[in-house]
Amino acid sequence: MSNLFSQRHLLGIKDLNEADIRMVLETAKEFKEVINRPIKKVPSLRDITIANIFFENSTRTRISFELAEKRLSADTINFASSASSVSKGETLLDTVNNILSMKVDMVVMRHPAPGAPHFLSKRISANIVNAGDGTHEHPTQALLDAYSMQEQIGDLAGKNIAIIGDILHSRVALSNIFLLKKLGANVKVCGPSTLIPRHIHELGVEVSYNLIETLNWCHVANVLRIQLERQDIKFIPSLREYSMYYGIDKKLLDSLNKKIVLMHPGPINRGVELNSDAADSEHSIILQQVENGVAVRMAVLYILASQN
Ligand code: CP
Repeated sequence: MSNLFSQRHLLGIKDLNEADIRMVLETAKEFKEVINRPIKKVPSLRDITIANIFFENSTRTRISFELAEKRLSADTINFASSASSVSKGETLLDTVNNILSMKVDMVVMRHPAPGAPHFLSKRISANIVNAGDGTHEHPTQALLDAYSMQEQIGDLAGKNIAIIGDILHSRVALSNIFLLKKLGANVKVCGPSTLIPRHIHELGVEVSYNLIETLNWCHVANVLRIQLERQDIKFIPSLREYSMYYGIDKKLLDSLNKKIVLMHPGPINRGVELNSDAADSEHSIILQQVENGVAVRMAVLYILASQN
């Protein structure tokens, strides 16, 4: 296996090969050990400046990247479009070039437009990390999800992973599918037919519309949020009906003939895709996912900076 990462940027899981993915997951193990020490900081990215540029809201990803950068001793600047000159009509490229002229080495960007980080990567020299581009990809979420799955069930080759919910609007689903297939997992997507892209089987995944059958099949259930903010038409009759057919509660988990690992990238719509008694149950590793996000993002930043 090569010990060189194949990419200058992390734009999407689609661009990575299996060795790249395994390199991030192995490196993250070392950083997880670091962030659990009494002194959580290492000098690996001293003198590197990273701009976190968020054109869309975020809690977990933004804080996790900032913490990862601080743990690596990088200098960080944070940009939120709502408090910037974007509201005066400044373009994405002008905004980023102005930030880069202040000697920034890496850009972590979230943007509502699919392909925005790819557009930038062709026009600027700094390394770019995609922190979520519209409904397209969320590569660091997929990497932290895989890391969290591996902690629970070991190597993912041959394991059954279900992705349940609003697959159509989810960048987490697409990045997870690319990654899990590259690691040899069996992937099934489950949800109402209106929320499953018509050609998704071409990515090598199975499709199910039956939640109980899917839960009985899987080792891990990664449950996704209904993204009402991305739905310009109604894809489901109501949240109440969605919850009746696809909502997961503790009683349902306890009725399965085995224990499964329950995941969710957040934010959770409690009472819609997950009831609180399931989200907070012994099946759930949702907060471990968040913890692992810092180590995985440290690994990504460290690996990209090492290529320069
Ligand atoms: N999982 C995730 O991307 O959460 P945020 O939108 O809070 O960053």
